Amino acid sequence: MLWWTDDLKTGIEIIDKQHKSIFDKANKIFNLGTSSSREEIEKIFIFLMNYTINHFSDEEKVMLDNHYDDFMKHREQHNYFVEQVYKIYYNFKGDKITDEALNELKMLIIEWLANHINKDDKDFIKTIR
Ligand SMILES: [Fe+2]
Ligand SMILES: [Fe+2]
Repeated sequence: MLWWTDDLKTGIEIIDKQHKSIFDKANKIFNLGTSSSREEIEKIFIFLMNYTINHFSDEEKVMLDNHYDDFMKHREQHNYFVEQVYKIYYNFKGDKITDEALNELKMLIIEWLANHINKDDKDFIKTIR
């Protein structure tokens, strides 16, 4: 399990709040199972969709304001995450959630926290501080 740590702090309140919120939500996602209610799973996807819209645009705005060199590379990763979330959600909408789909979602989140937030977001935070 990955936890929010102070080195993720940007000092920009809204970004820090958003990062904390996905760490909190990750704990809920890891506890999902095929016996979880449709409503419960639906709520997670709604959160993730709103998160990607709000957080990614806020973060990208900060990058642009700071002329961040790796902006395009970073934005591509955001776009990839959005695509994956929608793809998993699309399959879930058509059917009962399967173990496979849940694992796909969990892997995506673990990967995202470990590699994107913990590495790529940190890189950009370092340069704007
Ligand atoms: Fe990011
Ligand atoms: Fe981020």
